[in-house]
Amino acid sequence: MSQQEQWKSKIGFILATAGSAIGLGAIWKFPYVAGTGGGGAFFFLFLAFTLILGMPLLLGEFIIGRKGQSNPINTYSKLASNPKWSIIGKIGVFTSFILLSFYSVVGGWIILYIVQIVAGGLNGLDEGRYMQLFEEIISNPFATLIAQFVFILISILVVSKGIQKGIELASKIMMPALLILFIGLVIRSLSLDGAMEGVKFLLVPDFTKLTSESILFALGQSFFTLSLGVSVMVTYASYLPRTQNLPQSAISIIILNTIIALLAGLAIFPGVFSFDLEPNAGPVLIFAVLPAVFNQMPFGMFFFLAFLILFLFAALTSAFSMIEIIVASVTKNNPKKRKKSTWIIGILIFIVGIPSCLSYGMLADVQLFNRTFFDLMDFAVSNILMPLGALLIAIFVSQKVSKDVLFTELKSGSNIGRGFFSIWYILLKYVTPIAIIIVFLDVLGLFNW
Ligand code: PFF
Repeated sequence: MSQQEQWKSKIGFILATAGSAIGLGAIWKFPYVAGTGGGGAFFFLFLAFTLILGMPLLLGEFIIGRKGQSNPINTYSKLASNPKWSIIGKIGVFTSFILLSFYSVVGGWIILYIVQIVAGGLNGLDEGRYMQLFEEIISNPFATLIAQFVFILISILVVSKGIQKGIELASKIMMPALLILFIGLVIRSLSLDGAMEGVKFLLVPDFTKLTSESILFALGQSFFTLSLGVSVMVTYASYLPRTQNLPQSAISIIILNTIIALLAGLAIFPGVFSFDLEPNAGPVLIFAVLPAVFNQMPFGMFFFLAFLILFLFAALTSAFSMIEIIVASVTKNNPKKRKKSTWIIGILIFIVGIPSCLSYGMLADVQLFNRTFFDLMDFAVSNILMPLGALLIAIFVSQKVSKDVLFTELKSGSNIGRGFFSIWYILLKYVTPIAIIIVFLDVLGLFNW
């Protein structure tokens, strides 16, 4: 068991976990779900859910991860002294596998856009053409499959190097670069004519715009962006020494993740309003709208390229965490088996992801349960598997681990008092499960009012 690798530094752990959290969720999904879900009101709800539900769950995953010091499957059976509970880890591994199979499709689109820019293919087109180009790019089966493969390949190469030299080092370089370039992009966006309209759209809440669906989307979004319910945070915390301050780490990650989502919104909406584009354009927002926005600025394509490279980094650091949890489980943390297992797992994920990739082209008309393959996978992960995992983790932590063990673990490395502990415990034991059950009821269609 003590073969388990450890993070080299405290900041390395924070950046790697923030790297898992920050990805397509904050940069691609957040602006478009906020755009369709009510702008400022959605943003405030997302913030509230992140603090009230996401934060306790994140801390819960950290606590059992560090306490267990093992892979996600063993952690649960070990802490509950009952092998049945390993089901939570198994669900997480399965969820991660499916998640990466379609996440890598979007990762591939980013790579294709980078190639397009470098080849000069995005220069000086008019707005409508960017939409068309997006459709053309994502419907090309060979290009998208190759790009998806490249995305997975990069993840394999990094994860097979292990914790310190792979994930930690990559995150240490990528995450600060992302933050700095994002700030540059936002300054650029805010200097556009009419930028304030976009800022108002994102930050001034109009709660009358909320629907029951957008409320539930905000909840799902807060879990998705924090990588919760999949035991990724359990796995990352298992590489921690007892000296790490867990509450402080959780707060840092939440702040970083929220800042990035906010910066993504501030980079996108001022441009959308300044050029009279639609804030509710949906999943195409970044890919079809941003090039049009950047194209109208001096050095626009250069800035867009910088943006895409960081966007790719962010998606990759999330992908690393998805592969890592599978590798840790399959190899039972044996470093000798890491390389080979990572390759096999990566290739299997690619194969399973092929139908998702093709569902924007050749398989666009193939529908299962009224959804394309990509949408079905996304639906299964975001609306069923992740909330289910989060619910089980909340129940496990609050009911299967003794309060004393939880308190001691939480206190180790921090000087948290009983008051903080009690609030955290109540949120995790009662508030989080009830909220998740509401999401499930919505999936079953009980909230069509
Ligand atoms: N948090 C990632 C994002 O927002 O893109 C997605 C994610 C990564 C979800 C890892 C779940 C996970 F286990």
